[in-house]
Amino acid sequence: MTTRIDGNAVAADIREALTDSIETLGSEGVTPGLATVLMSDDPASETYVSMKQRDCAEVGIDGIHVEIDTDAPAEELYDTIEDLNADSDVHGILVQMPLVEQVDTRRVLRSVDPLKDVDGFHPENVGRLVAGNDRYRPCTPHGVQKLLETYDIETEGADVVIVGRSNIVGKPLANLLIQKADDGNATVTVCHSRTEDLAEKTRNADIVVAAAGLAEFIDGGMISEGATVIDVGINRVEADTEKGYELVGDVEYGGVAEKAGAITPVPGGVGPMTRAMLLYNTVKAASLQTGIDVTLP
Ligand SMILES: NC(=O)c1ccc[n+]([C@@H]2O[C@H](COP(=O)([O-])OP(=O)(O)OC[C@H]3O[C@@H](n4cnc5c(N)ncnc54)[C@H](OP(=O)(O)O)[C@@H]3O)[C@@H](O)[C@H]2O)c1
Repeated sequence: MTTRIDGNAVAADIREALTDSIETLGSEGVTPGLATVLMSDDPASETYVSMKQRDCAEVGIDGIHVEIDTDAPAEELYDTIEDLNADSDVHGILVQMPLVEQVDTRRVLRSVDPLKDVDGFHPENVGRLVAGNDRYRPCTPHGVQKLLETYDIETEGADVVIVGRSNIVGKPLANLLIQKADDGNATVTVCHSRTEDLAEKTRNADIVVAAAGLAEFIDGGMISEGATVIDVGINRVEADTEKGYELVGDVEYGGVAEKAGAITPVPGGVGPMTRAMLLYNTVKAASLQTGIDVTLP
């Protein structure tokens, strides 16, 4: 029997637990605040930001949204970040990527106050994570860890193959899973576009995490019997639907589910976890900045 890992259910439990922490903060007069900043007219980015704002409203986090004209000079974005850094009602700042070309993305990542960097992309937070002293775990890798933990999928001693080495998924996840910690202690191989014989690597893995952004490219032949398969990919493919497309993962679900011991669907797997972990980091940020202790799920 293959276990279908239900990201919607796990995310709902995390949101519910966070509501209690938000009440604790509220009883001390603090409402966590998350600012989202958008400087892009990419429809997917607009959707992501509006979903994040909706998630905040649902759990009682104050959402502030700043939209900057895509033709505006980069300084407008840098000044906005400075203002948000100085605003004590704002505990978390999320600048939606990718940004327009006149903006220096590295400068943006460096200029968010590390204590408000709920994406976990500031070099200080990246360094802390690598050193095993993390402050904010990036949302998608943290969501993957929570799914594994909730479904009792042991990482200690496991051979994990991560397909993809981006700064937002593959690299931070690898760094988290190799930590000497209960939710780490794995032996991790990180694969990418120059990896030779990828299938040979994935077939030897206890846990495969697909994060390459290639629709359904991991098939049943690339997975060993009983392996856990976590599909991070979100790919739009043409389909006979109202919108003219549908979302699929990096994993060919049908064929892989026949062999896997556990598998995440797309949608309904990692996606909702990423959103829940942003709320988690925002609550943690409010706690760190106010000194009010809260229990985090
Ligand atoms: N579910 C969620 O919440 C969530 C969150 C973030 C991202 N995503 C999705 O996850 C996917 C990956 O996102 P990302 O931002 O990490 O992507 P990315 O920055 O484009 O990175 C893709 C990675 O895949 C590697 N790759 C490309 N082709 C490959 C191949 N044939 N074999 C092995 N590796 C290959 C690339 O290698 P090189 O480094 O050599 O180019 C790169 O490291 C996308 O579909 C994205 O939409 C989902």
